[in-house]
Amino acid sequence: MSRVVVTGRIPDAAIEKLRAEHDVDAWQGPESIGREELLRRVAGAEAIVSLLTERIDAELLDAAGPQLKVVANVAVGYDNIDVPACTERGVVATNTPGVLTDATADIALSLILMATRRLGEGERLIRSGQAWKWGMFFLLGSGLQGKTLGVVGMGGIGQATARRAKAFGMEIVYQSRSEIDSEIAAELGAQRVDLDELLAVSDVVSLHCPYGPATHHLIGAEQLAAMKSSAYLVNTARGPIVDEAALASALREGQIAGAGLDVYENEPTVHPALLELDNVVLLPHLGSATVETRTAMAMLAAENALALLSGERPPTPIG
Ligand code: DGY
Repeated sequence: MSRVVVTGRIPDAAIEKLRAEHDVDAWQGPESIGREELLRRVAGAEAIVSLLTERIDAELLDAAGPQLKVVANVAVGYDNIDVPACTERGVVATNTPGVLTDATADIALSLILMATRRLGEGERLIRSGQAWKWGMFFLLGSGLQGKTLGVVGMGGIGQATARRAKAFGMEIVYQSRSEIDSEIAAELGAQRVDLDELLAVSDVVSLHCPYGPATHHLIGAEQLAAMKSSAYLVNTARGPIVDEAALASALREGQIAGAGLDVYENEPTVHPALLELDNVVLLPHLGSATVETRTAMAMLAAENALALLSGERPPTPIG
């Protein structure tokens, strides 16, 4: 039996799966585990099942000790993990790609609709108790049909978002490190372009790339200025891909028409200037937040940890 530390609450099914074979210490607090408590608890662990709210860095890996074999993140994004520090110590890091693709693409499409059709504004108006009535020019938004979606990062979630947008009558362009499968490109009618062209031609820009040094502030003042003044920006990937101060100013100045965000630069803090603006829809990182998806993510993380603890290849290693 190995010691497995789970850094936050995850669905019971995954805990039971781990507990059937190992000694599991799972943080059960309503709040995130504090750093000191986490450093103390990981001592002696052979597996850490981590949530994206916990930083897994050299200090934490050393606090765990040399017997640590695996860090299994319950997320597809792994910017909370110092992967090179894991590799240096012979620790395998894993993530949960695939199982949250549809849920996240659903939220991207929801944000596209919320932003372009001004649904957040409408909801806030009713709740504010202000008088309103149907009017020919009341809260007019912008339709999607015949418009262009620019997908930045055409992995699984980008493709799933494009598929949904196509069903709404949108044309697709994308920017990605590599060409996507030609059959999928043909099915979506998707054309690969560089970021400059994507920003210039898109009516909606949706971000689906991973976060890292190469994508820090990928969308800043210059890129926002390159977008159409009628365009919208949607981010369901990671907050720091967008320079939030620059976005707030572009939205305030009418440089772009609107935005929909599920993730933030300094999560869970939201840039105060964004909170003042009506032309941005703000969700609290709900991309993968369905019972089915979170269960599948936790089960996959458990399978990754279990595989490595029994000396097998994990289903979804990072890299
Ligand atoms: C992920 O898995 O990276 C998502 O952001 C979680 O919702």
